[in-house]
Amino acid sequence: MSQVFVNIALSLDGYMAPEGMTLAHWDTADYKDWGAKWGAMMGWLLKQRYFRENHGFGAGGEIGAVNDMVRRTMERTGANIMGKRMFEQGEASWPEEAPFHTPVFVLTHEKREPWVRPGGTTFFFVNDGAESALAQARAAAGDRDVRISGGADVVQQYLNLGVVDALEIALAPVMFGGGRRLFENVREPLPQFKVDHVLAGPDATHVRYVRT
Ligand SMILES: NC(=O)c1ccc[n+]([C@@H]2O[C@H](COP(=O)([O-])OP(=O)(O)OC[C@H]3O[C@@H](n4cnc5c(N)ncnc54)[C@H](OP(=O)(O)O)[C@@H]3O)[C@@H](O)[C@H]2O)c1
Repeated sequence: MSQVFVNIALSLDGYMAPEGMTLAHWDTADYKDWGAKWGAMMGWLLKQRYFRENHGFGAGGEIGAVNDMVRRTMERTGANIMGKRMFEQGEASWPEEAPFHTPVFVLTHEKREPWVRPGGTTFFFVNDGAESALAQARAAAGDRDVRISGGADVVQQYLNLGVVDALEIALAPVMFGGGRRLFENVREPLPQFKVDHVLAGPDATHVRYVRT
């Protein structure tokens, strides 16, 4: 049966994005050092061959258990859901062939026609809430899974709806000291998880938690 999963990277002190990483400072990565902090959290991913090929970064890159995990995550995903702030940063930086290759449902108050990219990614802009976006994503995903891609605001909404079957976190040993914190605004009844799988690497520990 199709699952709903979150798959994100997290700083050791619990942030999904460093302070200063906003569209307003997109071209000044030295602002509050956000570029270096983001790169340190994502370093493990940027090295993986599958990720590099999917983002048009060229040949080469690591192969192995982490690369396999990145590929499996993409292959199991039949639809993505993301927030407007994640989308607008991606719009400014993804290659023309956006790296999702599925329908993507963008939660936003902005009204906008679907944005079709080459390579199978179409962004649909959803104005009627998280539950509607999930219903549309489930229908689009078919037998495959629905990935809640981020950012923090959107992940929190799905945790509060109690629909997250698996929470996959790449915990990187880097401190941000501020930014977009993952675990805030999470309300009772709190979702409960148990550890399902751990993959340790030098740049991140990959933990998969599943709902109990
Ligand atoms: N660490 C990771 O793995 C990871 C993954 C993904 C993203 N990120 C980072 O996370 C940051 C963004 O996270 P964020 O928490 O600031 O923002 P976000 O979750 O990406 O987007 C929040 C915005 O989406 C819209 N939205 C959300 N829920 C809505 C709803 N129910 N109805 C209508 N609109 C809704 C609102 O924008 P409007 O009102 O303007 O439409 C809201 O301000 C970025 O820096 C991104 O790069 C990190």
